[in-house]
Amino acid sequence: MFAALQTYPPDSILRLIAEFRADPRADKVDLGVGVYKDELGRTPIMAAVKAAERRILDAEDSKAYIGPAGVPEFNTAIQRLVFGAEHQVLTDRRTATVLTPGGCGALRVGAELLKRAAPDTTIWVSDPTWANHIPLLGNAGLRIREYPYYDRQSSSLRFDAMLTTLAQAGAGDVVLLHGCCHNPCGADLDAEQWRAVAELAEQRGFLPFVDLAYQGLGDGLDADAAGLRLLAERVPELLVASSCSKNFGLYRERVGGLSVIAGDEAAASAAISHVNNIVRGMYSMPPSHGGAIVAEILGDDALQREWRMELDGMRERINGLRRLVNEKLRERNVARDFSFIERERGMFSFLGLSEAQVARLIADYGLYMVNSSRINVAGINQTNVDYVADALAAVLAD
Ligand code: LMR
Repeated sequence: MFAALQTYPPDSILRLIAEFRADPRADKVDLGVGVYKDELGRTPIMAAVKAAERRILDAEDSKAYIGPAGVPEFNTAIQRLVFGAEHQVLTDRRTATVLTPGGCGALRVGAELLKRAAPDTTIWVSDPTWANHIPLLGNAGLRIREYPYYDRQSSSLRFDAMLTTLAQAGAGDVVLLHGCCHNPCGADLDAEQWRAVAELAEQRGFLPFVDLAYQGLGDGLDADAAGLRLLAERVPELLVASSCSKNFGLYRERVGGLSVIAGDEAAASAAISHVNNIVRGMYSMPPSHGGAIVAEILGDDALQREWRMELDGMRERINGLRRLVNEKLRERNVARDFSFIERERGMFSFLGLSEAQVARLIADYGLYMVNSSRINVAGINQTNVDYVADALAAVLAD
């Protein structure tokens, strides 16, 4: 059976992790995978997470099954975090949420639900989008089309082209949107643009699917969800995949949520019965540990305050680094304007380099980034920023 299989090339982002680890150079810098790093280059466990975990371990008295929807307290708490406690989709009880193995699990289960509801569904994804969106959605059997989003030459949004293309989408189509901190480009829609997308969704009847993987790392927990909250006020149906990997630092615990917003309570409940059935047939039920940690934090005022402060610190650090790296590049009189890095949000920005320039940065300087020249800004710190700026200036000067 397996003799016919050819070796499958590793995922480009995951391959970078292995290549970086294997590089013996002391001054190597990892701007590859999207993982938050502190000033010392570590990805620490947040103090609120550690405290919640201790409480859970002390109180836990069973490892019995939890069911396909996961931890109920997580599901309620994450809905409030995503939509805000008073949002109409919650008070109207049109929203149902399940705990999933990470944001990836939420994307995949959401895609399976779409496939089951309407087997011919086309999902429109931004050009560019996170590379793993394609297998997560495509392997569920959805047809994938692209809409223009970001112009690498001018380092800015192609919003008019996006709207023109999405005007072709109609009922039965789904449009994947990045809630905030776009991966890979860091350029987000502003409030006016979210309004225009909501209007188009209403007119054309397409269903928005929002990937919210970085809530709290752009401009704040509420500000980062403002676009999707506005959408939820306007459209009858919506899917949201949220992730607790980055904002709770729970990467390896695999914690995310899929929220289904339907026309009314009965439709939401019917949709979630299918979600439960899909989950049962894929992995039966999600692991509970990470979801229990998030529920513990969000259900306790003091822990929640501590977590919010830590998250604020992470966000401010990233936004500070965005200003710093632009300033360092300006000081070196590089021929290109990198001020867009300051305006973008979240972990990522494209530097606009060629694959050959990226290969040179890795080979000559041990400066690792995705070959599209996407950098993880959080990998920069006060110690390596001059080295990073020098390497970029050298490669740009050739
Ligand atoms: C990234 O884009 O680097 C992260 O979302 C990690 C991943 O799984 O690709």
